[in-house]
Amino acid sequence: MKYKEIISEIKSIRDYKDKEVSRELFDELKQYYDQAQRLVDNIEIEVIRKNHTVYEQLKDSAGYNNKMIKAPHYLIFLSEEKDYYIENVGYVAQDIILKAWSLGIGSCWITFEDGEAIKKKLQIDSDKKLAAIIAMGYEVDHKNKVLYENVSDYNPSKADVKVIEDNTSERLGIRDIVFMKKWGEKADPDELVNFGLLEGFTYGRLAPSARNRQPWRFIVDDGTVVLTLKKDSYVSQYEEKIDSAVIMLYFKAIIESTLYNIKWNFTKPKKDYQVPDDYKIVAYCIV
Ligand SMILES: Cc1cc2nc3c(=O)[nH]c(=O)nc-3n(C[C@H](O)[C@H](O)[C@H](O)COP(=O)(O)O)c2cc1C
Repeated sequence: MKYKEIISEIKSIRDYKDKEVSRELFDELKQYYDQAQRLVDNIEIEVIRKNHTVYEQLKDSAGYNNKMIKAPHYLIFLSEEKDYYIENVGYVAQDIILKAWSLGIGSCWITFEDGEAIKKKLQIDSDKKLAAIIAMGYEVDHKNKVLYENVSDYNPSKADVKVIEDNTSERLGIRDIVFMKKWGEKADPDELVNFGLLEGFTYGRLAPSARNRQPWRFIVDDGTVVLTLKKDSYVSQYEEKIDSAVIMLYFKAIIESTLYNIKWNFTKPKKDYQVPDDYKIVAYCIV
């Protein structure tokens, strides 16, 4: 998949045409999904494709402030409950979202709180846990897009949409999210080029995140890249886990398209990086 191209273009779609995606395209997505990489091995995932009726069923129980997104299709991801199963689904689901975009299909993550209640509303009888809801379909050709505010303006008490002229949400710069050796020491992009890591971060920072808060900060320490995540009281653990998984996919996909294979480890690195209390270490990889 042409990750760089897709990552540069993709955005969340919240307004959909009343037009169905063909069975052939869904078959292509399914084929991709069957051979796609997982973040964690040996966790069984089940993906259920549902139609527009989900909107009525989940109208007041999913989405930001329970504001459900209306779409012709939804992908519902269920998973066996094992360590890091939410991150694993987040990783796989984001890969499907990117593949769908390459086929001309738009999508959007839909957050939720009570997975068991949602399964009931959707009449899903399964021991597996609800791990993701993704809206899918064709984008309405709007001039103005409905987007979430820039993270720096973001006010959690006012978590609603606003219409802006541009069609891409804003992102933080490399120097804002990557530190060198220790917390707070802003990375020099030239140095990141020398390590072969600049593109990983350049594209990684374009990843979607719950409420576009872009909670990721990295510490690059010789051959180690440590991923940390900001803790915010208005963000659920579920959203934190998906936000982590999505950036792991972006970073890994880009590094692997230019350099070599990497593997994210969920254990903490040995060195103490003195990460402040409002951040936590999520994972690290050796590059
Ligand atoms: C875990 C997660 C949950 C999200 N939940 C919702 C949601 O419920 N409703 C919504 O409109 N957008 C949702 N989004 C989309 C984000 O708001 C969006 O990715 C972010 O604002 C950046 O915009 P972009 O994807 O267009 O670049 C979610 C994204 C993530 C990663």
